[in-house]
Amino acid sequence: MDLIATHTNDVLKVLHHGLIVDRRITRRLKKRPLLNLARKMRAALPARLMRLLKLIGKMAEEKEFAAFVIGGFVRDLIMNVRNYDVDIVVEGNAIEFAKAFADRLKGSLVIHRKFGTATVVMPWGLGRNGRFKVDIATARRERYEFPAALPDVEFSSLRDDLYRRDFTINAMAIVLNSKNFGQLIDFFNGQRHLEEGVVSVLHKESFMDDPTRIFRAVRFEQRYGFKIDKPTENLIKKAIKKDMFGRTGNMRIRDELILILKEEDPMRAIRRMHQLDELRFIHPKIKMQEDLRSLFKSIKQTCRWYKKSQLKERSLDDWLMYLMALFENLDKKDAKAICNKFAFRRGDTMRIASYKEEGDRVLKFMSQKKKMPPSSVYKRLRPLSYEVILVLYAKADDRKIKSRIINFLLKSNDIKIKTTGDDLKRLGFKPGPALGKALKEILYAKIDDKIETRKDELSLAREMLK
Ligand code: CTP
Repeated sequence: MDLIATHTNDVLKVLHHGLIVDRRITRRLKKRPLLNLARKMRAALPARLMRLLKLIGKMAEEKEFAAFVIGGFVRDLIMNVRNYDVDIVVEGNAIEFAKAFADRLKGSLVIHRKFGTATVVMPWGLGRNGRFKVDIATARRERYEFPAALPDVEFSSLRDDLYRRDFTINAMAIVLNSKNFGQLIDFFNGQRHLEEGVVSVLHKESFMDDPTRIFRAVRFEQRYGFKIDKPTENLIKKAIKKDMFGRTGNMRIRDELILILKEEDPMRAIRRMHQLDELRFIHPKIKMQEDLRSLFKSIKQTCRWYKKSQLKERSLDDWLMYLMALFENLDKKDAKAICNKFAFRRGDTMRIASYKEEGDRVLKFMSQKKKMPPSSVYKRLRPLSYEVILVLYAKADDRKIKSRIINFLLKSNDIKIKTTGDDLKRLGFKPGPALGKALKEILYAKIDDKIETRKDELSLAREMLK
């Protein structure tokens, strides 16, 4: 029986492979024409991914249950946005299924037993993903012991699983079982909201259940140029008034903030967060002013330049640069307090701290009018991370400073000397600080173009020894 032809209870039984079908599902599905996305998937997805999705459907069928791909993948497929984050929901035991799937594909398996979910990491990659992974969960309903607690997992049907999700546009599923492969399951008007450009929650308790969705609403709205609908906006305001953020884990807020800063144009979301009075949950002193807007813009241009430059091989944490900008009005103490409160990783906190400690001093030093040997710039910039250096570049409005930074990045920073410590020992240097200092002096001389060859380096060393 073909699901597109008729929308009867029988069809849904086929779809759900004999599992008891919730009557609400049948009623809802009967209301609108069913859309099959198989052709769109074939056109949009790499053949390898398509084969993988079909295999999941086939394996689920062998085990006599239904499997779906859900969430952001479905949303982006409909919107023609590339997204290879595959979240699978099965109406069966996800962990058991994941084990069989990992075996079959020679992937490695990570089990999250508490949540009844598993991740299978493939031995191959797709696009920018070095190793392709698939997350597999059991269709479930979440009971919340009290608002904002971590979910308590309970087995249930697909509809319940989708109903507990954040927004209608993220609450659609595609059937993977071969019989109905590609069938869109949309109980909550997700497809219509995508067409209309609306971000809408599924129920009134959504932000109470998970306050991080307050950030997520803004992120999706601004990413796609959508509009949070009025009822959802009112619920956000209510949750903010009730200080729901205070009740959720700071690390989850941090993760959402990082995701916002990783968006293509994070300023749009930051502006909207300011409008909705969300920024104060990060810190009351973070202010949305014109100079913040222009600093974000300049950082964006700087990152774009970096990614086209010869430096691009070294990855850059753009989001951290935007975070530094967001902390522009704060002193070092406040910035550190935020990093501790939200448990930013040690390396991230250290880069923020060094920006706060050194940033203004370095800029002041480099704004000097007098001629400055490249080695002086090198000494100041070398200890700093690329993120800090590039924020300084973005922030500097003086062309002299900018060209000094560029010269460091593209030239001085790469210069190496041929002389080694052993060479210096052979010349008569004793091991210790003096030897290290001599190596540095040779490097600085080379950076400043005073010497060129290994012979020059050694004769400079001999002079120093005298
Ligand atoms: N989800 C949710 N509530 C959250 C986080 C996630 O309901 N607080 C659900 C949504 O259905 C979402 C899915 O889990 O689509 C996957 O979450 P995630 O990977 O964070 O988001 P995506 O929708 O895939 O968005 P992105 O493109 O930003 O990765």
